[in-house]
Amino acid sequence: MYRCTLRGSCATIKNCHRMGIGAGLGGAQTVIDLHTHVLPKIDDGSDSVETSAGMLHRMAQHGVDVVCATPHFYRDRTDVETFLSRRDAAWQRLQQAQPLPVPLVLGAEVTYYSGISEEKNLHQLCLEGTNTLLLEMPYSDWNSFQIDEVMSLAWDCGFDVVLVHPERLTMGANNKRYLHMLYSLPMQVNAGALRQWRTRRGALEILQNTAKPLLGSDCHNLKSRAPNLWEGRSVVERKLGREFLSDMDQNAQMLLQPRFESV
Ligand SMILES: [Fe+2]
Repeated sequence: MYRCTLRGSCATIKNCHRMGIGAGLGGAQTVIDLHTHVLPKIDDGSDSVETSAGMLHRMAQHGVDVVCATPHFYRDRTDVETFLSRRDAAWQRLQQAQPLPVPLVLGAEVTYYSGISEEKNLHQLCLEGTNTLLLEMPYSDWNSFQIDEVMSLAWDCGFDVVLVHPERLTMGANNKRYLHMLYSLPMQVNAGALRQWRTRRGALEILQNTAKPLLGSDCHNLKSRAPNLWEGRSVVERKLGREFLSDMDQNAQMLLQPRFESV
C-alpha cells in the first residue's frame, strides 16, 4: 500500500514525488515534519478529528509542506495487522471530515522490542512506500544486544532506520555511551528539545554527530505538545547555519524516496 494523502484527496506516494516530495525531484526545499501523532484517537496523540485538523492547519500556516503521521506501535500491545487497520480507520475519519491542508504520509513510531529484526511484517510500519522505519529506543538502560539488533535492521534487513528523539533517551551515561555506536544511523531530534536551554546543547550535539540529522515535532495536541517544527528550525538555522538546515531538509526528502520505481 503506497497511499498518502494530497490536500484531501487519496493519491499514491508516487504522486508526492511528482509534486517534488523526494530528493532531487523538486526545485524548492520541502519542509517535512517526520514525526507527529496527528491521527485522531489512535494513541496518546490527537483526541479528536477537530484537534487533528487544528494541528494540520497550524502546521500548514507555518510552512510545513508534508506531515508524516506516525502513531505509536508497541508490539506487546498489538500486532502489525491490527495496528494498520486502526491507523487506516483513523485516517479515514480525518480525511472524510474535511479537506486536509497539508499532505500526509502514513507511518509509525515503532518502539524497539527484542526480536524486532525477525518481525515478518515490519516493512509495513515504514513510512508508506519507503524503507524508512522510525524507531524509538527504550527509556531504560540499553545493552549491546539491542545495539547489535538495531544495526542489523539497517545492515542486514535494509531498513533506513531513523532513531527518534535520542536526546530524550540518553540522559544517563550508559545510553550516551551506546549512542556513539549508533551515530551512523539517521537521528531525528525533537524541535521542542532545541527550544529549551536545558536540552538544547545535547540536542545540537546529536544533530552534529549523526550521519543524517533530522528534525520532527513529535506533536501530540494543540496545547502541551503542539506543532512546533518551525521553532526548532529557527534554532538550527541560528546555531548551525542555513546550509545545515538545508542539508537536514534534503535528508528528510531522501527518506521519503519510494521503495520501488513503479507502484
Ligand atoms: Fe512520538
